Amino acid sequence: MVSYKELGLVNTKDMFAKAVKGGYAIPAYNFNNMEQMQAIVQACVETKSPVILQVSKGARDYANINILRNMARGVVEYAHELGCDIPIVLHLDHGDSFETCKMCIDNGFSSVMIDGSHLPYEENVALTKKVVEYAHAFDVTVEGELGVLAGIEDEVSSEVSHYTKPEEVEDFVSKTGCDSLAISVGTSHGAFKFTAEQCTRNEEGILVPPELRFDILEEIEKKLPGFPIVLHGSSSVPQEYVKMINEFGGKLKDSVGIPESQLRKAALSAVCKINIDSDGRLAMTGTIRKVLAEKPAEFDPRKYLGPAREALKQMYMHKNIDVLGSAGHALD
Ligand code: G3H
Ligand code: 13P
Ligand code: ZN
Repeated sequence: MVSYKELGLVNTKDMFAKAVKGGYAIPAYNFNNMEQMQAIVQACVETKSPVILQVSKGARDYANINILRNMARGVVEYAHELGCDIPIVLHLDHGDSFETCKMCIDNGFSSVMIDGSHLPYEENVALTKKVVEYAHAFDVTVEGELGVLAGIEDEVSSEVSHYTKPEEVEDFVSKTGCDSLAISVGTSHGAFKFTAEQCTRNEEGILVPPELRFDILEEIEKKLPGFPIVLHGSSSVPQEYVKMINEFGGKLKDSVGIPESQLRKAALSAVCKINIDSDGRLAMTGTIRKVLAEKPAEFDPRKYLGPAREALKQMYMHKNIDVLGSAGHALD
């Protein structure tokens, strides 16, 4: 058993309370390797932002849980060395069973998500409650989910989205004791969130996706005043990186993400955690493709992973400052 406290990590409790009060959202960035992790921490130290480092099942399979835990310990020390002890959470993204959550808690995670959103309501309640009981014994915080997002949720794939039912949220939170709740209000996972047919065009001819269901979010806030709400599937799919990928040999179909203005609006509400994975993949892939296309003789991985890391860092800084509003809140 390794406690996250020994690693210098924190759980989400204080972080979320401050974010809800302060009208900003904590970035929850997924990572799978060293360059992504370095970029996240550099960006968050430079912008003085708290951060949630997210690990999916895919990331655990790819990188190994012992390595990931020790990387988290390493970045706590790295942040200190860079001059700012930002609060850092190590979070399990889309935990699919009690056993997975337990294994992560026993291996130094400070926060876990139990995703029972695909289960019948009572089963979701029972599973989430079981995880909460185990997690709270170790001061680990738990994110539950109600409502189903369209797109891919790790192994759980859904073609359609089912918005969260506001009439269920109070009962779910009181029965399970979860610390935060992921909801479905129109975001979806992956880089292909909306087709052109689902969008309208603005005066400049740019595709604009349908608005998130802020009416549902408001109803949820009324039922759970001050309770931390989480938005998954919140990549904005930066068009510069989609273009870069396609210009340098890639083949991505057109896609539109969640507009930054809508995420900004959400961050001002009870939404205090915003999950972003796909945008990091796009920035990294675009940059690597560009370097390799422009310097075909290059074969030193540092020469393309280094620029990819820098592009990621710049993108995360922009999100912290201009979208989530978490910049400057590390030492609140
Ligand atoms: O919500 C899902 C995340 O983007 C994780 O994706 O399972 O491919 O690591 P992954
Ligand atoms: P995106 O695919 O929009 O980046 O969402 C990531 C996510 O929700 C991880 O849990
Ligand atoms: Zn997600």
